[in-house]
Amino acid sequence: MAIQKRPYIKSEEAGEKYWCRCGKTENEPYCDGSHERLNTGKTPIKVSLEAAKKVAWCGCRETKNPPYCDGTHTRL
Ligand code: FES
Repeated sequence: MAIQKRPYIKSEEAGEKYWCRCGKTENEPYCDGSHERLNTGKTPIKVSLEAAKKVAWCGCRETKNPPYCDGTHTRL
């Protein structure tokens, strides 16, 4: 798992999620604290899902609408 040129499509339960912004996590697409360990300077984005839903998390980290895929990966 790593930065990739396609989204991570996940069926999520309601609740808080932390999307990894730095791309160094070992648990894509979620923050595992690697940004602190590696001092990336890129902190995660917190999302509160009101209900269970399918989410397309950006895997390339180039989206203009973080933490969601906006199709930017198709132009990389
Ligand atoms: S994976 Fe689609 S914009 Fe990043």
